[in-house]
Amino acid sequence: MSTYNENARPKVTTARLRDMKQRGEKIAALTSYDFTMASIVDGAGIDMILVGDSAANVMLGCQTTLPVTLDEMITYAKGTVRGVKRAFVVVDLPFGTYQGNPELALASAVRVMKETGAEAVKLEGGQEIRESIARILSAGIPVVGHLGLTPQSVNKFGGYGLRAKQDAEAERLLNDAHMLDEMGCCAIVLEKIPAELAARVAREVSAPIIGIGAGSDVDGQILVVQDMLGMNDGFKPKFLRHFANLHKVMTEALEQYASEVKAATFPNQDERY
Ligand code: KIV
Repeated sequence: MSTYNENARPKVTTARLRDMKQRGEKIAALTSYDFTMASIVDGAGIDMILVGDSAANVMLGCQTTLPVTLDEMITYAKGTVRGVKRAFVVVDLPFGTYQGNPELALASAVRVMKETGAEAVKLEGGQEIRESIARILSAGIPVVGHLGLTPQSVNKFGGYGLRAKQDAEAERLLNDAHMLDEMGCCAIVLEKIPAELAARVAREVSAPIIGIGAGSDVDGQILVVQDMLGMNDGFKPKFLRHFANLHKVMTEALEQYASEVKAATFPNQDERY
């Protein structure tokens, strides 16, 4: 008999995300890029799964998120959606598929929704991509905003440092967050900004605010799943907590496998036909 209880853990939707914010229930979000990981993440009760363009770094080994293509994102999203029963699945529109061109933005978002079965798309930016967001929303496609450190603009920023430290940038971010909220974005990611500013945004807007490196006074948290599982021991920014050390666990298991194969102790008598 299945232990899955739909009443105890109903499907996460845009309405449920808003309801969670209103009730003060924090939203737990993580990335995923494939079926196996998504099944584990969803089964653990994570509320929102983002097929992030961090796939460029984590899955493809790129230095930035810029190279990943829409076709690649759709492949990652298809596998992820097949592994999910309950979480709300969001897919990043990658660099070059929505900026400065609302028609292209809508076409990209429609492809994601039709081909993957995901429930929303995420776009990086505020005022400068307003028309693209409006066009996607006009088709009934939920949009998640993303402000603060927006990695697709790394070449403009000149790195991955803390954003909105100065008053002018903080003011712009606040205005952008209000704009995204009023346009009807179903959630907004705030990445690597001062905790006090993130808390103010979360207080002032009705859309759920999901933070990464934005302190605890927001409506939820998101991390890259491989990072929080400690699979990449070379990456440990201040905001990241390792909830496991899978790099060590996996390396030990792989070394054990190699040594047992070489010693001909794997497979044993019970592991053969
Ligand atoms: O691509 C990604 O993984 C993201 C999260 C870090 C928010 O955008």
